[in-house]
Amino acid sequence: MIRSVISGIGSYVPPTVVTNDDLAQFMDTSDEWIQTRSGIKERRYAEDGVFCSDLAVEACRRAVDDAGIGMQDVDYLIFATLSPDYHFPGTGCYLQAKLGLEGQGVLDVRNQCTGFLYSLSIADAFVRTGQYKNVLVVGSEVHSSALDFSTRGRDVTVLFGDGAGAAVVSPCEDPNRGLLYSELHADGKHARALYLDIWDMSRKPYMTHDSIDNTDIFPKMDGRTVFKHAVTRLVETVENTLKTQNVNPDDIKYFIPHQANMRINQIVADKLGIDREKFLHNMQNYGNTTAASIPLLLDETYRAGKLERGDLIMMLGFGAGFTWGANLMRW
Ligand code: ACO
Repeated sequence: MIRSVISGIGSYVPPTVVTNDDLAQFMDTSDEWIQTRSGIKERRYAEDGVFCSDLAVEACRRAVDDAGIGMQDVDYLIFATLSPDYHFPGTGCYLQAKLGLEGQGVLDVRNQCTGFLYSLSIADAFVRTGQYKNVLVVGSEVHSSALDFSTRGRDVTVLFGDGAGAAVVSPCEDPNRGLLYSELHADGKHARALYLDIWDMSRKPYMTHDSIDNTDIFPKMDGRTVFKHAVTRLVETVENTLKTQNVNPDDIKYFIPHQANMRINQIVADKLGIDREKFLHNMQNYGNTTAASIPLLLDETYRAGKLERGDLIMMLGFGAGFTWGANLMRW
């Protein structure tokens, strides 16, 4: 049976480091508040004029190199982001051109923090049916250009950072490797718990001076609601994935969770009775990079030599929408 595997992985973060103390110069916040509530110490910000497709280019090149193929061998491109370069066309089109590609199918996925999980499952389906051989999946975000740097926006702003992570998904006949299972969910009732209204397409014109003055250009979040639902849904999803796949949590080497908040991931581990050490983190360095966080962490874990072929891992995430899910994979 042909399964899909991640045959190459890569990531990229912009060089500019912004610490919690740096943010405290613009808004009423503190390193202590941010670290205690979220686990985040610093994040990266892209320079002015850098798009999420630019960060994605670097991550994609690294993933393709790691896969040992040429860029021209990519036959489908999936781009997950909540911070697209422009309203339209989709950022996958911009990225395709920047990678020097032409003609391959491209698809934009707009599923926020679970964008990479959804994208991986789409790539898996294409690869397993034999339709495509090397699907390039990328999650990339430039959040820093759309954050409110006044005290009014501090609850959201301190959490987010910029970055990109990419994976090449290819067929593999090794029975000890492959994507085993994807579980994906959404509940749009909660769309207003974390949202950005900048494009209100029911209005003519969709953006007015009023909407800008009313700060519709900045994301809004009901943090406690997000927190509560994230914990419940992630616990459910892990339990269901383990049960459906008849897997014991002890058999899983690492959980690669979306990097929204250290406390969310620790509570999820505790509720499942799983050792916290198995839930990996790098949010302390990058904050929440939404669709990029899982491939960025996976890449760092792999490059640190912590993953061996055949290791069982679970990627999981929860985000705006709400959307949530998990992928179970033998690396
Ligand atoms: N610095 C200092 N004080 C702050 C800050 C800040 N950055 N932000 C909020 N506060 C204040 C609030 O105004 C409030 O003040 P008040 O008591 O005077 O009204 C106080 O801190 C406590 O605020 P709470 O909202 O109760 O703080 P809480 O403990 O719930 O933590 C947080 C807030 C960190 C946002 C938490 O709710 C959380 O992490 N929620 C999940 C958010 C998340 O993960 N979002 C992303 C997931 S989805 C995705 O990734 C797209």
